[in-house]
Amino acid sequence: MPMRIAVCISGRGSNLVALVTALGPDAPARVVLVLSNRASAPGLEYARARGIATAVLVAPSDGAEWLGRLSEAKVDLIVLAGFLRLVPSAVIAHYRDRIINIHPALLPSFGGPGMYGHRVHEAVLAGGVQETGATVHLVDEEYDRGATLGQIRVPVHGGDTPDTLAERVLQAEHRLLPAAVLAAARAGRPVPFALDRSDPPEAQTSGKNSVCHAP
Ligand code: GAR
Repeated sequence: MPMRIAVCISGRGSNLVALVTALGPDAPARVVLVLSNRASAPGLEYARARGIATAVLVAPSDGAEWLGRLSEAKVDLIVLAGFLRLVPSAVIAHYRDRIINIHPALLPSFGGPGMYGHRVHEAVLAGGVQETGATVHLVDEEYDRGATLGQIRVPVHGGDTPDTLAERVLQAEHRLLPAAVLAAARAGRPVPFALDRSDPPEAQTSGKNSVCHAP
């Protein structure tokens, strides 16, 4: 039986698209529910067009509403993919170690409350670092604090703007998130992982701490 995945989004949903695309019919995981705190999130339309159940949370801070939706869909694993609200503590408690998030930087750097989307890339450029990336980590009660499961490194180029950097990091996210979900599905729970040999050579693991490199 494939692992049943709920993906939580607040907007565009390009990571959702990358995940659904990567999970073919024979994959050990399947997206069975897309949850959003915003009825206008474009990713919801993508899901509906593919026959994936969707739900808009009426009260995103109400754990009971989440738990009702998740149990109805028999969800095994929750994936936050551009979900910009704190998950209610009742949901964290019920799905402890079964919730993962993708963050567009190398945590623990450039994470925490208020650090999402373009703000992250603006902070990276303001920080003058030469390397950024993306992180998949377990979700606990605090923003961006749970254990890191896998990362991919992305260079910062001279002349980068928040837009150009965001785009380069996003391409890397689109490889990292499916790898995280497939590793979780094979293990039966989220586990540390590295991109495998079928990924482009430049994305393969450095062999250290599950950190991979992107162009
Ligand atoms: C992604 O870059 C994701 O890492 C980021 O929001 C974007 C969503 O894009 N998440 C955070 O910043 C969470 N702190 P998408 O809707 O196209 O997948």
